[in-house]
Amino acid sequence: MKIAIGSDHAGVELKAHIISFLEKEGVQVFDKGPVSEKSVDYPDYAKQVVGAIQDEEAEYGILICGTGIGMSIACNRYDFIRGALVRSALEAKLSREHNDANILCLGARITPEDQALECVKVFLETSFSQEERHIRRLDKLGCGCCEI
Ligand code: RB5
Repeated sequence: MKIAIGSDHAGVELKAHIISFLEKEGVQVFDKGPVSEKSVDYPDYAKQVVGAIQDEEAEYGILICGTGIGMSIACNRYDFIRGALVRSALEAKLSREHNDANILCLGARITPEDQALECVKVFLETSFSQEERHIRRLDKLGCGCCEI
């Protein structure tokens, strides 16, 4: 599995923990930055992770900012992206099963590290349900990914 990950300054520390967790699990991780906690703008890093998915460098993305809200707004402006702002393992599971989310958005200032890692684990081990009603709903979003 190939994952692209990015953050803003508020998410750098959590990003490092997630990368270390994923690498131990044998996941290939593309770190799109930033490398320091110097203030940056979250849309710039959302764009990098989106680009990795659109170019098929990665299958899924993870985006982290302080709340996760900025990153979820930013990534959902692009074609082929279904970003889900997730706070719990249940939301991580349902975002994959029902929404076929391809970017997990996390809020480093909201969600404790152990909970965030659980969200990552569940997100990556859960598949889209492939149920017709969910495919139909995704198709209505016009995100460019789905065919009935
Ligand atoms: C940065 O201070 C903060 O605004 C940002 O990380 C994010 O929470 C925006 O949605």
